[in-house]
Amino acid sequence: PKVTYHRSAGDPDVLDVPAGTNLMRAAVTGGVRGTVGECGGQAMCATCYVYVREPYLGRLPEIGEDEEELLECTAAPRDDRRSRLGCRLTLGDGLEEIEVDLPASQV
Ligand code: FES
Repeated sequence: PKVTYHRSAGDPDVLDVPAGTNLMRAAVTGGVRGTVGECGGQAMCATCYVYVREPYLGRLPEIGEDEEELLECTAAPRDDRRSRLGCRLTLGDGLEEIEVDLPASQV
């Protein structure tokens, strides 16, 4: 699968990752600036925050309760449709490609 991380300025980071990788792990492993994954993917830190681009929204898993709570209290402004935790989005299995915007606080 292929994942693209866009920033407000500069070139996006484009990575090829194995199926089963989540967006936080992909970013940390791939050296994407600003994504820390502090809690290791426990839906506790929100340092993996992303805004999913429009064409991919329909292919995402539903937002879980822990994710919902965390998205409500982050520094990055919530976008009801596009805000997600990267550690909750796993590539492969119907999600072969995704493009996301990183929040300003993470770039
Ligand atoms: Fe901590 Fe996603 S890595 S919430």
